[in-house]
Amino acid sequence: MSNLLEVRGIDTFIGQFHILEEVSLTVPEGAIVALLGRNGAGKTTTLKSILGLTPPRSGQVIFAGEEIQGLPSYEIAAMGVGYVPEHRAIFRDLSVYENLKLAERKKSDLARKEAMIFELFPDLKRLIKLGGANLSGGQQQMLALARALVPDNRLLLIDEPTEGLAPVIIEAMMEAIRRLAATTTILLVEQNFLVAGQLAESYVIVDEGRVVQTGVMADLLDDDAAIRRYLGAG
Ligand SMILES: Nc1ncnc2c1ncn2[C@@H]1O[C@H](COP(=O)(O)OP(=O)(O)OP(=O)(O)O)[C@@H](O)[C@H]1O
Ligand SMILES: [Mg+2]
Repeated sequence: MSNLLEVRGIDTFIGQFHILEEVSLTVPEGAIVALLGRNGAGKTTTLKSILGLTPPRSGQVIFAGEEIQGLPSYEIAAMGVGYVPEHRAIFRDLSVYENLKLAERKKSDLARKEAMIFELFPDLKRLIKLGGANLSGGQQQMLALARALVPDNRLLLIDEPTEGLAPVIIEAMMEAIRRLAATTTILLVEQNFLVAGQLAESYVIVDEGRVVQTGVMADLLDDDAAIRRYLGAG
C-alpha cells in the first residue's frame, strides 16, 4: 500500500513555544490511522501543521507525492485535504443547508454529494432549514463532518468526532466514519480509545509534542502499560 500522507520530522512552534518536535507519521492510502495522546499532547497541532494552519518550521509534509509544507492552507485544502476541526466547528447562525453550501469548493459540489451525505446522515436532510444553534451536539458534529464531504477530498483529518456525545450518537458517528473509509483515507484524532480501537488499523501516539509509539491497533489493545502511560485510560 502506498502512503497518501507522509509527515517527516516536523517541528512546529506557536509563538515562542516549541510544540511539535520531530513528529513523523504515515497514512497509507485507504487506511484509518488513529492519532492518540492525552490532553495537550499535540494532536490538534499535528493536524494543523499538515494543513498549514500552524506551518511547521522544519521537516516535510508529503501528500500524494508532493511536498505541501509551506503552502497556504487554501491550496492544501484544494488538493483534496478535508478538515473536521474539534468542538463541532459549524456556523451556528446559519442553517444546515447554508453550512453545507458554504463548504463547496466548486459550485456543483453539494448537488453532486447531497444524496451520499443525506444517506449517511438522514437527520441533516430532515433538519435542512434549521439553524446550526438549534441542532443537538450530535447533529452539530454530523454537520461538521458532512461539511468535509461536500468537496472531493482524498484525505480527511478528523479531530475528536465523538467528544462529549452520547453513546448512541457515538455509534452512529463510528458507522459513518467506517463507511467513509471505503472511499477516503482518514487520519483520526480520538480521545476515546475504545472508538479508535474499533475504527483504526494502525496508530500513532504523541506525548509532549513527540511521537512515542506507533504500530498496529490490534497490538495496542493488549498493551496495558502504553494505554495507562500515554492515554491515561485502563
Ligand atoms: N495558541 C497556543 N498558544 C500557546 N500554546 C498552545 C496554543 N495552542 C496549543 N498550545 C499548546 O500546545 C500543546 C499541544 O496542544 P494541542 O491542542 O495540539 O493538543 P491536543 O493533543 O490536541 O490536546 P486536546 O486533547 O486537549 O485537544 C499544548 O501544550 C497546548 O497548551
Ligand atoms: Mg486537540
